[in-house]
Amino acid sequence: MGAPVVVNNMNTEELQQTTTALMAGDKGLLAMDESLPTCNKRFQEAGIPQTEEYRRKYRQLIVTTPNLGEYISGAILFDETVYQSTDDQVLFMDVLHRAGIIPGIKVDEGTVEMPGHPKEKITRGLDGLTERLNNYYGLGARFAKWRAVITIGEGIPSDENIAANTKLLARYALLCQQADIVPIVEPEVLMDGDHTIERCYEVTEKTIKVLFTQLQAEGVYLPGLILKPNMVIAGKDCPVQKSTDEVATATVNCLLASVPPEVGGVAFLSGGQSPQEAARHLHAMHVKFDDKLPWPLTFSFARALQQPALELWKGKDENVKAAQDMLYFRASMASAARAGQYSVDIDN
Ligand code: G3H
Repeated sequence: MGAPVVVNNMNTEELQQTTTALMAGDKGLLAMDESLPTCNKRFQEAGIPQTEEYRRKYRQLIVTTPNLGEYISGAILFDETVYQSTDDQVLFMDVLHRAGIIPGIKVDEGTVEMPGHPKEKITRGLDGLTERLNNYYGLGARFAKWRAVITIGEGIPSDENIAANTKLLARYALLCQQADIVPIVEPEVLMDGDHTIERCYEVTEKTIKVLFTQLQAEGVYLPGLILKPNMVIAGKDCPVQKSTDEVATATVNCLLASVPPEVGGVAFLSGGQSPQEAARHLHAMHVKFDDKLPWPLTFSFARALQQPALELWKGKDENVKAAQDMLYFRASMASAARAGQYSVDIDN
């Protein structure tokens, strides 16, 4: 064995290997990294007590779902989950490794109002990041996630907001790679609002272009990086919602215009789409554009994988099996979409 390839103080070979494993086959990523407020909100809506023990039980349900590794290559965890174990004291991180699922970790610390821009958000979390990354690597995490939020509205997003959020994403990505951790960079253009699909396209394209300018300026190794974008879709309250084919076409065209071909992979967030919508859109992209895509194109859903299972579970032990079957089924549907083999007939 030769010495590892070290460029810009990073082991590009290991980064490349992790990225390839995450993008393998027809698999995708499971985001189970809801922060405490977000997880509690979802629990409250489903009538589940919002305690650490219920969060542990829920995450146990997910990571012990039989055969989930057939469709899921990596799972993104939240800090609290990294230290939690099953009822019989096996760390969730170890359960995932044994299931052939690579553990990842959300490392941003949420969003706050951007100073001077009351309607826009900026993401926190660079302080002490290298130390946290080294700790997570030691615990078995091999990839990370940082989410920036871009809001569409009257006069926004501002150039300043896009510049500040993408600069932070680029710094985070470099620090990850220097810690042998593959960064998922997530510049989420929100579906909230009544904007058109054309406006979503314009903002998404601009944001991703600025992001890659910043990533390249930082010297980030693109084959060892995964982009987690939104699909290009009209705002939730827009009266004109486009067809599956139009969403798929707009999304792929936007990404082809903004994402360099050497990027290691692209994995979509679901953003509030139903599980079926998200699967239909991903399927249509593969059916229409498979031979034109320079990067693997897959899913990194949270709600579109988890929500039906969470609603079945309701916090009750007797519902664990039904919830796990549902999670496994949703993962199989997302994987079928990645393979261009999804249909509404199999999704019921
Ligand atoms: O950061 C957002 C999550 O990783 C993806 O969540 O699929 O529910 O939008 P979502």
